[in-house]
Amino acid sequence: MYLGIDLGTSSVKAMLIDAEQTVVGSASSKEVKTARPQAGWSEQDPADWIRATEEAIAGLRAAHPAAFAVVRGIGLSGHMHGATLLDAEDKVLRPCIMWNDTRSHREAAALDADPRFRRITGNIVFPGFTAPKLAWVKNNEPDVFAKIRWVLLPKDFLRVWLTGEHMSEMSDSAGTSWLDTGGRKWSGELLAATGLEERHMPALVEGTDVAGILRPELAARWGLDTGVVVAGGAGDNAASACGMGTVREGAAFVSLGTSGVLFAANASYLPNPESAVHAFCHALPGTWHQMGVILSATDALNWHSRVTSASAADLTEELGDMLKAPSGVTFLPYLSGERTPHNDAAIRGAFLGLGHESGRAVLTQAVLEGVSFAIRDSLEALKSAGTALTRVTAIGGGSRSRYWLKSIATALNLPVDLPADGDFGAAFGAARLGLVAATGADPVAVCSAPATAETIEPEAALTAAYEDAYQRYRRLYPAVRAAY
Ligand code: XUL
Repeated sequence: MYLGIDLGTSSVKAMLIDAEQTVVGSASSKEVKTARPQAGWSEQDPADWIRATEEAIAGLRAAHPAAFAVVRGIGLSGHMHGATLLDAEDKVLRPCIMWNDTRSHREAAALDADPRFRRITGNIVFPGFTAPKLAWVKNNEPDVFAKIRWVLLPKDFLRVWLTGEHMSEMSDSAGTSWLDTGGRKWSGELLAATGLEERHMPALVEGTDVAGILRPELAARWGLDTGVVVAGGAGDNAASACGMGTVREGAAFVSLGTSGVLFAANASYLPNPESAVHAFCHALPGTWHQMGVILSATDALNWHSRVTSASAADLTEELGDMLKAPSGVTFLPYLSGERTPHNDAAIRGAFLGLGHESGRAVLTQAVLEGVSFAIRDSLEALKSAGTALTRVTAIGGGSRSRYWLKSIATALNLPVDLPADGDFGAAFGAARLGLVAATGADPVAVCSAPATAETIEPEAALTAAYEDAYQRYRRLYPAVRAAY
């Protein structure tokens, strides 16, 4: 048996698979709380991650005691970019500054102005990335900065608890702004630019490599043999890609989670920071990936659900299954700023074109379309970075809405595949990496794609209207930006 642990933004999920990769079961923790002490801030207490992991594992053990007892390998996945700062005793120095925290936008702009960052990392220094957060801590909390012994990504903090090792892997580390992404190694030069040295960083392996052995105390507590290996694992997007089989050149998925991601697997390193595309290492050795990231996907619908006091499911159901032509109301989903294509932490969302007739359903339609157009922006960004997609697979909570899927297919003018029933997310991908690390199996063979249950085609009768609405959407960002 192999165990995947996905440290999600809102909960931890643990999944058990057998040697044939059949899912035996999964369990999730209760909610992990995010604190927002100031506008634009987003923090979590790493101690909560351990509690939540214990909770998810307890649930899984209770439901599948015999299967859990023969776990041989563990894979880790987690939300990316977070700054988890430890002292020399591995004590957490301050709450983790999360991926969706934009407090360090000034520091990010300053680092991004140093041409070495884009040249070496292949990426814009986004405020959500790790290096500008450390620059912020250095400027605002010098006492904390002085005590830093380790800078770890969230899932790698869990690894310290699980194994005692300070280790990371390429896919998550590529989101720090300190990795030489083409060379798959830390850049001492970039670390020095933020007052750090390579000794502050964990050692690097590939996601499929062994990166620690489960501590004997935990093995005994969970009824496991000694010698359970913990794989390098992956950042949550690369882990989902391993779960979805998005590992070969040309394969792509669109993920409608809290944030939205258009992810493409690449056989080579294809940076293009000018388009605000993320070019990161993949979890499999010698492979890379690109992605466009939008900060509010289902989060935009959840916001709309909060202000209308209606559930997201009720709101999308109200639209029915038949795609409508865009109504003329346009929504910009920039509720917490935007990464691709604007790299703008300060921009905020907007509705444009409201009339007396614009009721709740019209606004819901505009919200779904706005997110679809934001993903279309990512498609165009990937194109300018050398990757032309011919189809995408949809995953994530938002893909439960058929209306949204049709809207995305039409906005992208691409077929959208829906995987056959099953859970192919980050926890599954992490479990696959645990299997590869424990057995030495061929990772490309292990990370196969699920069968396609159905393909949602673009609505041919509406592609022209969608194109017009997309062009209007494109014109809105500069106008809103200018109004600030
Ligand atoms: C990717 C990113 C998000 C988080 C969410 O760059 O910031 O997708 O990984 O978990």
